[in-house]
Order: sequence, then structure tokens, then C-alpha cells
Amino acid sequence: TEPLRLGIAGLGTVGAGVVKIVRQKAALLEARGGRPITISAVSARNRLKERGVPLDDYVWEDDPVALAKRDDVDVFVELVGGSDGPAKAATEAALRAGKDVVTANKALLAHHGQDLAELAEKAGSVLRFEAAVAGGIPVVKALTEGLAGNDIKRVMGVMNGTCNYILTRMESAGLTYDQAFAEADGLGYLEADPDLDVGGIDAGHKLSLLASIAFGTQVAFDAVELEGIGRVSIEDIRQAADMGYKVKLLGVCQMTGRGLEQRMSPCLVPAISPLGQLDGGTNMVVIEGDQVGTIVMRGAGAGEGPTASAVMGDVLDIARGTRVSTFGQPATSLAKAKAAKTATP
Ligand code: HSE
Repeated sequence: TEPLRLGIAGLGTVGAGVVKIVRQKAALLEARGGRPITISAVSARNRLKERGVPLDDYVWEDDPVALAKRDDVDVFVELVGGSDGPAKAATEAALRAGKDVVTANKALLAHHGQDLAELAEKAGSVLRFEAAVAGGIPVVKALTEGLAGNDIKRVMGVMNGTCNYILTRMESAGLTYDQAFAEADGLGYLEADPDLDVGGIDAGHKLSLLASIAFGTQVAFDAVELEGIGRVSIEDIRQAADMGYKVKLLGVCQMTGRGLEQRMSPCLVPAISPLGQLDGGTNMVVIEGDQVGTIVMRGAGAGEGPTASAVMGDVLDIARGTRVSTFGQPATSLAKAKAAKTATP
């Protein structure tokens, strides 16, 4: 059988993780995907950097757009990051060239998901992004496949591990916000622009994608009511603890009579609830469906193995021949979301 040939742009932690899985699990991937998974070409900003994975077997492209259009690439794996610039240009080039795309890029999709999905459908390509939401937790698949027979009532969760780490350290070690922030920085948790994390923007990107999938609406990141964790004080956390609550950066989306509500903000959650017990740099997504009831998914929202795991899940689906649309239904059938401002919590 013909192999499924990948072109990987971006060789940071996640890209290196994907290369490792493809190299080390060839037999398993072939058995599950029904065909060999191979890598044709790779691309990154710095060719000389040591990444702990052998790259000599693959063609090197300096330009991700050139990589995306190569004849020997069936699936363009976009791990460059950023809502615009090379990530967007290369993703568009790949889709226009009829390639399928697998991406971990939540910022790109939050801002351009609708256009990219329409472009993909026009070109007959598939655009998949499990890794963009809650890292290793297969929540996109859960919503679009396993739960497809439900009307989703509400999706909520903790979708930024860095913020959860900071809040946990303030709570359990009595650190100030600045101390906990510095600790997270030292551990390499923060995005290059830390405001993406602590400003709630990264988590807001993910929430907007989940809302679109859950409610069949176009991605509406601009309509997410956003508040980060920068103003959470240790007094807030102590007072919450006295009442049996914890402070979490919580995302909530639900369809109300007034329209789609999307909110990402520090919230009080009961300390004994699953969300209240979510300590450290972890993610949790809670889904409420009319048939299934409540489902809780918990796991690593970032890091090499977990994010590469999600990328490979999408790659294998494509190997098996899925042509299922990114958003669980055709992009052109997604309704424009009418934004409802949240009533006072
Ligand atoms: N900065 C993100 C987080 C990485 O802390 O969850 C994964 O998107």
C-alpha cells in the first residue's frame, strides 16, 4: 500500500515528538492506519539546532510554504505557531495545493478557522486540529464523533496549564502571583508572549474552537469575554479556600436564548469538584450533552508527548481515509454566532 507522506513544519518540542513517534512506532502506525506513515520533508527556522532526533533521512526546506506544496507531501503538519505569518501562509498554500493539513495552532484557527475550513472544503482537503485544544485530551474527537448524537448543553474547563500551575502554587505554597509567575517562567511553561497565557488569550482561543464544534457555529474568538489571572491575589485565594472553593481560570461556553455565551475568566469552583481538584499544569474539559449527561476529560494540555499524541491521532484518521470536516460539519453550514453577553455571574 502507498505510504501517507508527511511534511512537518516546525521542529520545536511538538515537532520533535512527532518525528520520534513516526520513527519509533512504524509498525503500530501502519497496523492502525492501514498504510505506512513516512516523513518526506521537514522545515524549521534554525537548521543547525540540535533536536535530539535524526533528520538526515528527510529533505530540508527552509521555507515552510515550499514544504507545504511539495509533490511528495500528502499531509502538511503545521507546528510553526502564530496566528499569521508563515503558519498561515503555509497552511493556505498546502490547502490550495490539495494537501490535507494537521495543525496544533490554536491562534491560527481562532482567528482564521472559518476561512481555512472553507478553503479546505473547496480544495477537497481535510483540516484537522485535535492538538490545538487541550493538548493530549482528545476532546475534538469526542465532540465530533463519539458525542455527535447529542445536543451539547455546555462545555467548560481549564484549558491553560500554565495558569493552572500558577494558581495552584499560589494556593498550595502561598506564593504571590509574581513569585508563582517567576517559577512557571523558570520551568519554561510560559509562551514566548506570556500575556497569551496569563491574559487568558490562549485559553480563549481554545474555548472559541470548542464552542464552534459544540454548537455548530462559526469560530467567534472576538466574542469571548476574556479576563486573565493577573489580578488574582493571594487574599482572593485564601478567602475562597475558607469557603471551600478554589480559584480557576475557567472557560465556559453555552447556547442560551440570547445567543452563544463564551467566557474565560477566574472563577470560584467547589474545592471537592473535579475542577477544584485539578492541580498543577493540567487541563480538564467538562462536556454536558442531552443524551450522555456529563463527561469529564482530564490530562496534559501541553508538552511533547501529549501534543504529538494528538497530532498523530489526526494523521492516523487521515491514513484511514477520513474526510470528516474539521468542525464536525461542513464549514459552509456553520451558523454565524450571535454573541450573548454574560449575565452577572
Ligand atoms: N501555554 C499553553 C498552556 C500551552 O500552558 O496550556 C498549550 O497550549
